[in-house]
Amino acid sequence: MKIKKVGVVGCGLMGAGIAEVTAAAGYETVVREVSEDQLEKGMARIRKSLDRGVEKGKVEPAEREAALGRLKGAVDLADLAGCDLVVEAIVENLDEKQKTFRNLDQVLGETAILASNTSSLTITQLAVSTTRPDRFVGLHFFNPVPVMQLVEVVRTLLTSQAAFDTAFEFCRSLGKEPVECKDNSGFIVNRLLVPYLLDAIRAYEEGVGSLEDIDKGMKLGTGHPMGPFTLLDFVGLDTTYYIANIMFEEYREKRFAPPPLLKQMVQAGRLGRKSGRGFYEYGK
Ligand code: 3HC
Repeated sequence: MKIKKVGVVGCGLMGAGIAEVTAAAGYETVVREVSEDQLEKGMARIRKSLDRGVEKGKVEPAEREAALGRLKGAVDLADLAGCDLVVEAIVENLDEKQKTFRNLDQVLGETAILASNTSSLTITQLAVSTTRPDRFVGLHFFNPVPVMQLVEVVRTLLTSQAAFDTAFEFCRSLGKEPVECKDNSGFIVNRLLVPYLLDAIRAYEEGVGSLEDIDKGMKLGTGHPMGPFTLLDFVGLDTTYYIANIMFEEYREKRFAPPPLLKQMVQAGRLGRKSGRGFYEYGK
């Protein structure tokens, strides 16, 4: 199947990045948010990221204009009607996602493929809430989407070979490197990354080192671009907390259990960069 028009549901950190790369790759793209206000914030995020791409010499000014020209905003899910592929990137909540997919299923044409950018829920439980579990995949992008090369393409027991192949090729057409994953909570990357991030918090709670030194250790000792606390602040402590809870629920293994400090920081509103303070301070 040929993908021509792409829908993205949610224009937060991940949705905005996904809409940016699909529009930049030449796809007519419709991105949907719940209100005009949220939509404008999301669109501003996309414009800012494209500007940064231009500044860094990665995006030609004409490409920026062309990408923005291919991008339409919507608040009504019905505006995604003509899309061949829709990627959902809303809050990491099963009920909300299932509700969105049930509505999308009604609105979209028969052959359209549905995809979720979930980072920890299984794709199967989302797919079975629609009438098209054979045309349902996971497409898990990484933050910042325009920069990170990887996309995890997730196949369930019900995904058809044709839908999987179409989704895989679609990722290649975005200039990304897709990898195939089984539908296990966390797929490949978060299954390994989340226990590592949680363990860094435990190490800090145990006094193994200061925040700065643990970060420095992993950056300079293992060549990670960011130490674990900088990365936690970057991903968002609330997001990490939701993911850890979902993975713990799924596997019942201690390595996925969120440490008390993470929970308390979320309760205290220290969510990382997005709230101006997490493990580090970022000012306004
Ligand atoms: N379009 C295209 N390219 C762009 C761009 C844009 N809009 N904006 C920046 N770039 C390019 C830059 O030109 C630069 O390329 P170069 O290396 O060839 O010069 C590259 O992207 C990096 O950009 P910056 O200079 O802005 O940034 P830094 O060099 O400071 O790196 C970082 C920032 C990429 C965020 C790096 O620190 C990093 O890789 N950190 C780790 C991020 C990570 O682990 N993300 C995954 C999180 S987990 C996740 O998302 C899963 C979820 O489920 C939790």
